[in-house]
Amino acid sequence: MAKKKSSAKGHIVPTTTLIKQPAHIAAHARIKSLAEYKKLHEESLRSPATFWARMAKENISWIKPFKKTLVWREPHAQWFVGGRLNVSANCLDRHLSTERRHKAAIIAEGEPGDIRVITYQQLHTEVCRFANVLKKNGVKSRDRVIIYLPNVPEAAIAMLACARIGAVHSVVFGGFSAAAVRDRVQDCGANFVITADGGFRRGQPFALKPVVDEGISGLEQIRRVIVLRRTGQTTHMQPERDVWWHEEMAGASAECPPASLDAEHPLFILYTSGSTGKPKGLLHTTGGYLLGATLTCKLVFDLKETDLFWCTADVGWITGHSYTVYGALSNGATTFMYEGVPNHPQPDRFWDIIERHRVTIFYTAPTAIRSFIRAGDQWVKKHDLSSLRILGSVGEPINPEAWRWYYEVVGGKRCPIMDTWWQTETGAHMITPLPGITPMAPGSATLPFLGVDPAVVDAKGQPVKRGEQGLLVIRKPWPSMARTIYGDAARYKKTYWSEIKGCYFTGDGARQDAHGNFWIIGRVDDVLNISGHRIGTAEVESALVSHAKVAEAAAVGIPHEIKGQALAVFVTLKQGLTGDDALREELRQHVAREIGAIAKPDKITFTEALPKTRSGKIMRRLLKEIASGNEVKGDVTTLDDFNVLSKLKAIED
Ligand code: WT7
Repeated sequence: MAKKKSSAKGHIVPTTTLIKQPAHIAAHARIKSLAEYKKLHEESLRSPATFWARMAKENISWIKPFKKTLVWREPHAQWFVGGRLNVSANCLDRHLSTERRHKAAIIAEGEPGDIRVITYQQLHTEVCRFANVLKKNGVKSRDRVIIYLPNVPEAAIAMLACARIGAVHSVVFGGFSAAAVRDRVQDCGANFVITADGGFRRGQPFALKPVVDEGISGLEQIRRVIVLRRTGQTTHMQPERDVWWHEEMAGASAECPPASLDAEHPLFILYTSGSTGKPKGLLHTTGGYLLGATLTCKLVFDLKETDLFWCTADVGWITGHSYTVYGALSNGATTFMYEGVPNHPQPDRFWDIIERHRVTIFYTAPTAIRSFIRAGDQWVKKHDLSSLRILGSVGEPINPEAWRWYYEVVGGKRCPIMDTWWQTETGAHMITPLPGITPMAPGSATLPFLGVDPAVVDAKGQPVKRGEQGLLVIRKPWPSMARTIYGDAARYKKTYWSEIKGCYFTGDGARQDAHGNFWIIGRVDDVLNISGHRIGTAEVESALVSHAKVAEAAAVGIPHEIKGQALAVFVTLKQGLTGDDALREELRQHVAREIGAIAKPDKITFTEALPKTRSGKIMRRLLKEIASGNEVKGDVTTLDDFNVLSKLKAIED
């Protein structure tokens, strides 16, 4: 489909056949036409303060109105200065005086098939009670609280309860290891942990509490661990420190007024991988983040009162934060949560869920779509998916084949696909089609959201020509941008605001086509995207070298049919040791213990030495080509020792 044609100037301009969105969506869309979008977008860039102030007044309930829309001292932004609000009140209380009061806020299905429906009134009650539990256990405003739970409604309840009293949550995905929990507890200085005995995954209960116990062992800073009973497995409780969620809730009052918080009050910290060994804790604040999540969720997914919105991401990722929880609830929508894996008990679990619950908006990742393709169309075709109206994609570029399958087989050509480009750092969608109006270009996230000013530039910050590849930057601050890296403002400045002068640097490469559509090429830094999850090569390398037998390690990404990228590592062992399959497995387990199962290497090559430049930098580019089975091309003149290369090639062949 993507054709290349030479322009008059001789450079390559990629073009693609655009696909018109189904007309019935446009008929009811909030933004009525591409022309209206363009006008609004222009306005939003011409007078950002006026635009964002209007959006903030229209979409958010303020306890005290803000005085100034933006104070910008690069790289530090303050949005909606002087304003006071509460995120949980926006997600709950404001719906109680409307027809939404007894509408379902959350419909949840556990992996074993247990179904729960929680109305706005009920969710409000649960959140207030749990907020009182937090207070009773000593949690105060600005205290950091680690949430390490399966993808069940209590995760949302815990997040909203923190937000209600001004505590700062840091959700850690349940697949992360004890070591990862410990790092995060220490990095953010948390005194509290909310966890569960375990959860259900692939038909089995898995344990969470023992992981927490190991992660926080010896850490004096932890004052309380609140434990949800989910699986009923035998759980050790440490006296004085651990309490059961249900026992604490039993006596808790449902009366808990929302704290009146400054617009810049910290809301949450969420860790993500960067190009050094240490994950970054991105800090998001109250007013700007809530506006970003609320507005994009409403406009990009075209939320209507009758929708059932299912974002398949775990709440442990930014997608779960911004769309399953905050964006959906702030809009008064019904959000769907599923606890388990897509292929249990059979490969059609997702389609079965969509059919039984009549899901209308379905938001998932390309890696999931590719594994559905592999499982076979018959699993989809068994089910009536006619309730679906809008489809979404996130996490990595969606390859045109997967796009077409998603459009035709899942959506029956009735449902437009919103390919949303954004990041943990951006808090909300940045480049995305809008329902009904943006011509779809399979594989492209298309056009900037309102108020977003992206550009493709060269290393000096000069815009490149249309069709040429460059670095993706954002030229203006936006409300839901992360404010800093928690505890490391210098790293925040260096990573995002120093690479390209005056711009936010995304870390992605991109090109813009003749229609203005943005095509994301992928990361240009040492960050991999494996099954839509960000993994830093340095993080994996530091996990590997912490193993007693490893001297040196290099991690690279190689193309993978389902995961997008797979993780290949090259390992040099300490003097006198030799590698075999048993050690390969030991190293895989070691990485799982250090980081989590998502970072387990797919391929381990033992080598006597790694290719390095004369200044000692590992030449990952060469390793990548070798691991992918390609000819080593390009410049090798900086390579220090040519023998290393031929030896490595010999091992691979
Ligand atoms: C990185 C951000 C933000 C939600 C999930 C991932 C890649 C994300 C797309 C997309 C192409 C995408 C980028 C980005 N990415 N969405 N629609 N098309 N690439 O969040 O872990 O913060 O990762 O994911 O490389 O920088 P994240």
